[in-house]
Amino acid sequence: MDLICPDCKSQITAAPQNALEASSLFCEPCERTFDVVGHVPVLLPRGLTEIKEAELGYWNQTAAGDMNLDRISQHYEDDAFTSDPWKMYSYSPLFDALPKDTPILEVGSGALTTALYLLLFRGFSKIVLTDISPALLGLSAQYAKSKGFDLKGLHYAADMENLPFADSSFQVVMVHAALHHLQDPVPAVKEMARCLRPGGLLIIGHEPNRLLLEPLRALQRVLKITDRDTEHHFSEADDVAEGFTRPQLERVLSESGIELVRISPVWFLTALMYNFPYVSEKLVRRKLAIGPGGRRAAVWLDKLLLKIPVLKDRSLFLCTVGAKNP
Ligand SMILES: C[S@@+](CC[C@H](N)C(=O)[O-])C[C@H]1O[C@@H](n2cnc3c(N)ncnc32)[C@H](O)[C@@H]1O
Ligand SMILES: [Zn+2]
Repeated sequence: MDLICPDCKSQITAAPQNALEASSLFCEPCERTFDVVGHVPVLLPRGLTEIKEAELGYWNQTAAGDMNLDRISQHYEDDAFTSDPWKMYSYSPLFDALPKDTPILEVGSGALTTALYLLLFRGFSKIVLTDISPALLGLSAQYAKSKGFDLKGLHYAADMENLPFADSSFQVVMVHAALHHLQDPVPAVKEMARCLRPGGLLIIGHEPNRLLLEPLRALQRVLKITDRDTEHHFSEADDVAEGFTRPQLERVLSESGIELVRISPVWFLTALMYNFPYVSEKLVRRKLAIGPGGRRAAVWLDKLLLKIPVLKDRSLFLCTVGAKNP
């Protein structure tokens, strides 16, 4: 896998396998040096938009505050593909069919990256994790190091609209709960498609469904439990996100040269449970949480409920799978 400059798209000089030995990477045409901070090469383009700068600031601040190694360790206690009811159940089987040396890229991975489960629990060896926040990736790198994994080429700070990888570098490209942080999903999905090999899989997991997000947001606004109301600092991009509709996702894929495989609805009761602590705090002045047993039961019920035609379009999240046209 070759690294390319996020600005001019030329190959950058240090070979990827040497990237971590080098103190920096270099783009000759741009005469630009990219730093490697805490095992994370920072390959962000110049001139990020205002909202991306705000995202970067927000997530870097999160890395310095709420996010820490304990939280990351807890997140990876079990293989989410089989046991975590909040995450992967809709696309777990896809990975069973793939060879363990399949090159897999996750964009917008954050510190609680989804693809890291594939390294930790499924034996996949060629995982690349990227996010706009070098600080979140730095925490993820510390965690991976504590588990004894080779950090070479594992993390890169990158904007998903300007990925620093050569065309057709990956067999799977995935994004989890991050595409809705962009103002327009099309440039990012086109960029992910560019990095995919023909026939490769694009997985857009757990992006909010406008049909449920809108009424849920309205309820949150009435109860004053939006992130804006409840958090000291919050992601502006998340706050203004409207979510996606199925036809919109279908259009985004077809505009990006990706054939739709399926869109699965996930989270219905689970979505209500996610908000339960905040709602209960509002109504009975106590933050009541629902335990793992309750969450599993909700997922089980969701799978049944989301088969009912009138409900199936009203899940909170949509998990989309596509394949790059050969
Ligand atoms: C809600 S978090 C999801 C993180 C992780 N995928 C998860 O499921 O826990 C959204 C992530 O998108 C990242 N992000 C936002 N804009 C981005 C961009 N333009 N390029 C890459 N990552 C971005 C943020 O830094 C953040 O980590
Ligand atoms: Zn350049």
